[in-house]
Amino acid sequence: MPSPISLDFYDVELRAHHEHLRAAYRIGRGDEVVDIACGTGLTTREAARAGAPGSVVGVDVSERMLERARQVTAAERLDNVRYELGDAQVHRFDPAGFDVAISRFGTMFFSDPAVAFANIAAALRPEARLVLLVWQRREHNEWARAIDAALGNAAQRPEPGADPFSLGDAEATADILERTGFDGMRFEDVREPVLYGHDLDAALAFVRGFQDTSAALASLSDGEAADAVERLRETLAAHYSDERGVVFDARSWLITARRRR
Ligand SMILES: C[S@@+](CC[C@H](N)C(=O)[O-])C[C@H]1O[C@@H](n2cnc3c(N)ncnc32)[C@H](O)[C@@H]1O
Repeated sequence: MPSPISLDFYDVELRAHHEHLRAAYRIGRGDEVVDIACGTGLTTREAARAGAPGSVVGVDVSERMLERARQVTAAERLDNVRYELGDAQVHRFDPAGFDVAISRFGTMFFSDPAVAFANIAAALRPEARLVLLVWQRREHNEWARAIDAALGNAAQRPEPGADPFSLGDAEATADILERTGFDGMRFEDVREPVLYGHDLDAALAFVRGFQDTSAALASLSDGEAADAVERLRETLAAHYSDERGVVFDARSWLITARRRR
């Protein structure tokens, strides 16, 4: 995840993908909603506005993320939101307590996705809706391929549980959902850019903060790391235009499903 300075940068990066998620929430007045791996809570707060007087629980393993989420939520005077620190894979949710589960790029980091989705299914009422955004496979994401190319041999393969592309295979992911209590799965192919802004230094700092990028740079000598950072800067510069700033192609899946009766 990005460093603290980049938390809001992340919301800007994902703006185009986010619009597809927002159109798919279909949260109704009074719905009880859980936001899985809510991070700093942009989606949690959107759900809170749509669902009031229903309430929203945002769950995340990072206290730092939740601290920021709580700050913004208080500033926006939303009183139907609660944040809980926890690993959504094993978190004790209220059984069958929710009408909708949402997650924006938060469900790819489970060490055992089948256990995690079964736990989420148990928190949902029969026919409750699941609405997720996840990255498609690495090779379908220009931003990831470009960063890998700049890092060369140092590019790291993420550990299980830390792989942003772990749900990228639609068939395998549909199979996990089917086995863990969901049906009616739909995968919408979302092809939108990721946006790294007009400030090249800020874009470089953001990309250096990615877990895989910082692990790769840490594995290099000082000189090699400096060369790799220079290549990263050149890659970002090559994708810059005055009109749109630094932009890469990206593909995500917008997944919708229902808790089986
Ligand atoms: C890419 S961020 C997305 C955050 C948020 N959904 C958003 O769109 O702004 C991934 C989030 O997943 C959280 N996370 C990773 N594994 C988790 C787990 N097992 N349970 C709960 N949260 C988790 C991280 O702390 C991080 O906030």
